[in-house]
Amino acid sequence: MAAVVDTLRAFFAPSTFVIDAENPGDVVARENLLDRAMGPGRSKKSSEKLRRGRVPADGLALVTRDVDGHVIGTVRLWNIEAGVTREGQAVPALLVGPLAVDPAHEGKGIGGTLMRAAIQEAKNRGHGAILLVGDAAYYERFGFFAERTQHLVMPGPFERNRFLALELKEGWLEGAAGMLVASGRKLAMPPVKRAA
Ligand SMILES: CC(C)(COP(=O)(O)OP(=O)(O)OC[C@H]1O[C@@H](n2cnc3c(N)ncnc32)[C@H](O)[C@@H]1OP(=O)(O)O)[C@@H](O)C(=O)NCCC(=O)NCCS
Repeated sequence: MAAVVDTLRAFFAPSTFVIDAENPGDVVARENLLDRAMGPGRSKKSSEKLRRGRVPADGLALVTRDVDGHVIGTVRLWNIEAGVTREGQAVPALLVGPLAVDPAHEGKGIGGTLMRAAIQEAKNRGHGAILLVGDAAYYERFGFFAERTQHLVMPGPFERNRFLALELKEGWLEGAAGMLVASGRKLAMPPVKRAA
């Protein structure tokens, strides 16, 4: 009976969550969440090459916390150069590191709220565009489309129809061509090793 009551309570409870800046105490919880949400192959993705050994863009590592402060969602944006313009100038932009929500909390609007908060913060900070590799069916709702990445390539295997971009400033990616390059600040120390 108690189990049934708990289930009903969980079902009817208001889904309360807050968005917060990630802090150093969140690293282990975030990595565990990413393992659960994305599976073991996540570190082999081409986007990982653009993140390894770097810190996220200033102010653009966000988490969602539940009422007890536990991390149940994560998104980080990374500084990159999205190829070069026709005049040969590098095009600064951001790349979405995984957006992930704890599988126990999916479908409550957490992913959407977190993604919109990250987009707004990137806009506030004056960034021109955000790129990512992900499901178009999910990311189109935020304004991400494959059209603007036509002449760009990831530094490794990727599926073109999943390589998407959102311009925060109109025309920012106009004419941008070439390979994405990491441009964020380098990590001062090696990443935290987790217990096996
Ligand atoms: C994708 C993810 C971040 C969505 O988080 P969430 O908190 O459940 O998202 P929201 O509640 O804001 O949105 C849920 C909606 O998105 C849809 N959705 C979720 N993943 C989708 C996908 N890959 N493609 C299309 N639609 C998707 C759901 O069906 C749901 O639709 P509805 O609103 O019509 O019911 C989460 O499922 C996750 O962490 N997945 C594993 C990691 C991952 O794949 N991340 C990158 C996405 S390509």
